[in-house]
Amino acid sequence: MAIERTFSIIKPDATQRNLTGAINAVIEKAGLRIVAQKRVRWTRAQAEKFYEEHKARPFYGELCDFMTSGPIVMQVLEGDNAIANYRSVMGATDPKEATEGTIRKLFAVSKGENSSHGSDSAASAEREIALNFRLDEIVG
Ligand code: RTP
Ligand code: MG
Repeated sequence: MAIERTFSIIKPDATQRNLTGAINAVIEKAGLRIVAQKRVRWTRAQAEKFYEEHKARPFYGELCDFMTSGPIVMQVLEGDNAIANYRSVMGATDPKEATEGTIRKLFAVSKGENSSHGSDSAASAEREIALNFRLDEIVG
């Protein structure tokens, strides 16, 4: 398997409940290394740009409201098959459909307030990392 990097966000519902450490424990237990991490609060413009692929979806406005409602923790995760691996560690978008032990099953409040984001493809990972981290902020 190939070593990959993926982009992760611990979302406002999780930072608000002091779940950063608990989520990081799940990430590290799954064999993913946190090679960059920063806590920020996005502007509306940053959220709209990050999620621009969802612009036409009915939940876009609500999603941008939520992602700017409090601090987020942005991360770069590295490991074997990291992109697909982290998607399975997060679980389904809707916690009601997520597998036991996944981040969303353990911590998510709802389909919208679902505690975590992970890139869905190699192209997305590249775009999302470049949008949010400088090269010198990533230390593998
Ligand atoms: P993410 O991008 O955050 O990793 O999640 P995902 O791929 O599992 O879900 P996606 O379809 O890309 O949707 C992005 C985020 O929008 C919110 N959402 N709300 N209320 C709804 O029906 C709904 N659907 C999606 C979630 O926060 C989802 O993670
Ligand atoms: Mg997505």
